[in-house]
Amino acid sequence: MELKELGTTGIMISEIGLGTWRYRGDAHTLRTGIELGATLIDTAEGYYTEDVVGEAIKGIRDKVFIATKVSGRHLAYNDVLQSAEESLYKLGTDYIDLYQIHWPNASYPIKETMKAMQALVDRGLVRFIGVSNFDIDEMEEAQSYLNNYRIVSNQVRYNLNDRSIELDLLPYCKEKGITIMAYTPLDDGNLTNTGNPIKGDRMNTLEAMSTEVGKTMGQVALNWCTSRENVVAIPKSNSLERTVENCGASGWRLSADQIERLDDSFS
Ligand SMILES: NC(=O)c1ccc[n+]([C@@H]2O[C@H](COP(=O)([O-])OP(=O)(O)OC[C@H]3O[C@@H](n4cnc5c(N)ncnc54)[C@H](OP(=O)(O)O)[C@@H]3O)[C@@H](O)[C@H]2O)c1
Repeated sequence: MELKELGTTGIMISEIGLGTWRYRGDAHTLRTGIELGATLIDTAEGYYTEDVVGEAIKGIRDKVFIATKVSGRHLAYNDVLQSAEESLYKLGTDYIDLYQIHWPNASYPIKETMKAMQALVDRGLVRFIGVSNFDIDEMEEAQSYLNNYRIVSNQVRYNLNDRSIELDLLPYCKEKGITIMAYTPLDDGNLTNTGNPIKGDRMNTLEAMSTEVGKTMGQVALNWCTSRENVVAIPKSNSLERTVENCGASGWRLSADQIERLDDSFS
């Protein structure tokens, strides 16, 4: 499993992580993914999967990097602190590696939210601060209220079928040394051979590329995501077999020419 630096922190995280939204699998499946090197695990208070993650990491806490999120409804100062405490309890740990604001919410002053995030780092309950679904202006405003820390990541939707972040957010984050955590990297299964893809030139290209490199379509789609310098991807699978498959999307690289052909086909 290839590793990438989280922001400019010097901390290395796996380029393929384990997503857990709507996760219905067991702790053993997550544990297998971890053993295959997918040590980045993404969860959220709103997913109700922090307990299964907690079960999966029992006894190996120092081997994994846990990313969880405070809900966009809990962004008042005290609510952030309380949500973090509850996540720590469910995860069965005394620190969260990356605490992310799940969605921006203009109903709460972001200054207050960021002060709470800062307090969590000051208290040693959180190592790094991240955001999710923030645009550039929202990121800059949030960062302006942090005195001592940097926002190290932004978790956003990114896959071959949805490349909207390439317009501005991806280059902005690259320039600032901020990691993009690509969610829905398989376009909810549509970029795999078991999904329900819209047939056409794009899927034909992906299928041909899969044959050319001897990897599954899903593995090619994930490798395309992580071919971007500051991008890691967090696919979710309930199945042990597909979790193993997704971990196999790392450890090799599409060539520059292959990436270009995918870029052109999915433009
Ligand atoms: N921050 C946010 O707002 C946000 C929003 C959405 C998602 N996320 C995060 O990103 C993670 C991933 O996104 P996602 O769950 O929306 O979508 P995804 O990972 O693109 O796709 C998941 C779907 O693909 C299927 N699948 C997974 N691996 C497969 C494979 N190798 N071959 C065929 N089918 C496969 C899964 O089915 P099976 O489970 O049956 O394998 C599931 O139906 C989430 O779990 C969550 O952690 C964050």
